[in-house]
Amino acid sequence: MFTFQSLKHPIIVAPMAGGVSNPHLVTSITNLGGFGFLAVGYKTHKQVLAEIEKTQQLTDSPFGVNVFIPADITLNADNQTALQQYRTELLPLAKKLEVELPEISDLPTDGSDDYDNKVNVLLQNPVAVVSFTFGLPSCEVVQSLQKVNTIVVATVTNLEEAKEAEAVGVNALCLQGVQAGGHRATFNSHVSSSQLSCAELIALVKKETDLPLIATGGITQKSQVQDLLAQGASAVQIGTLFLCAQEASTNSTYRQALLSKQFNDTAITRAFTGREARGLNNKFIQQYSHLAPDLYPLVHYLAQPIRQKANQLNLPEFTNLWAGTGFEDCKELSAEEILKNLI
Ligand SMILES: Cc1cc2nc3c(=O)[nH]c(=O)nc-3n(C[C@H](O)[C@H](O)[C@H](O)COP(=O)(O)O)c2cc1C
Repeated sequence: MFTFQSLKHPIIVAPMAGGVSNPHLVTSITNLGGFGFLAVGYKTHKQVLAEIEKTQQLTDSPFGVNVFIPADITLNADNQTALQQYRTELLPLAKKLEVELPEISDLPTDGSDDYDNKVNVLLQNPVAVVSFTFGLPSCEVVQSLQKVNTIVVATVTNLEEAKEAEAVGVNALCLQGVQAGGHRATFNSHVSSSQLSCAELIALVKKETDLPLIATGGITQKSQVQDLLAQGASAVQIGTLFLCAQEASTNSTYRQALLSKQFNDTAITRAFTGREARGLNNKFIQQYSHLAPDLYPLVHYLAQPIRQKANQLNLPEFTNLWAGTGFEDCKELSAEEILKNLI
């Protein structure tokens, strides 16, 4: 059975949903003795199966799949009012970009992200590792995956979540520090996420568990990798540094924004999706963060036309440019070169 400790290079290319990860990016790292996750959030179970099959064609090495835990959507009167108000705030920008925003009554109310079918695909077509984010799978799902020899990883952001994850029987923990790009993995999306770095999380969690620990968030330098491994991490998971890898599917607006150095910092916001996420601190974040309700994924669907049009028009100020605090180290290199700079 696969173990993170057995990797030749304890470097993991992070799952990056929303159009960044793909089988080529993952296998360019697994084929060199690192590890990688396909990101299957927002995809259908049929797309997941196709991606697994494509990846298996490209590699004999083990790889992983990352799954979103379903979101609980409650569309009560208060939520509808909050969404309606946010829609009103977004309308002038939508008009400027010549896009229609969906009516609140037309927003999808299924937050499952096709979870049950995805788990079935993973039981019938087992991969080496399945990691979960935004919460925990049930004990039954954990055990069923383990029965088909899949290692189960939970992504956590504080000690309480780590303890809950251990209690459902996962095999390893991915400790996501506050510097991480993309969505915070926080189980309860309505609370503000933890401010702990992955180094601080290792120090806290290591005292409480013997599970293998993966460190993630803000890692871009070889010295950081060495320090985190010395601290007790079994591997490190890196996202942002691979955003401009030649193999990544990152769209050109996003890629140029990262490489052009036109943004000076990152910020955590709910403005794009309703769930906290870290991205390049653009005008959209600055104008709408204080207005956005904490209603994921309803805000994601509401703001989607704006994000899509801004990408098409190459307007980085108005789309989500998820990135960790280390984004200034991004370079357009092959994934192999990026890996070699870290080992
Ligand atoms: C564009 C982008 C998309 C992401 N999508 C996912 C995802 O689908 N699932 C997940 O568990 N983590 C996701 N993450 C978070 C990464 O797993 C990881 O925690 C983060 O990239 C680490 O911080 P770094 O970006 O500073 O390397 C995403 C990160 C980015 C930058």
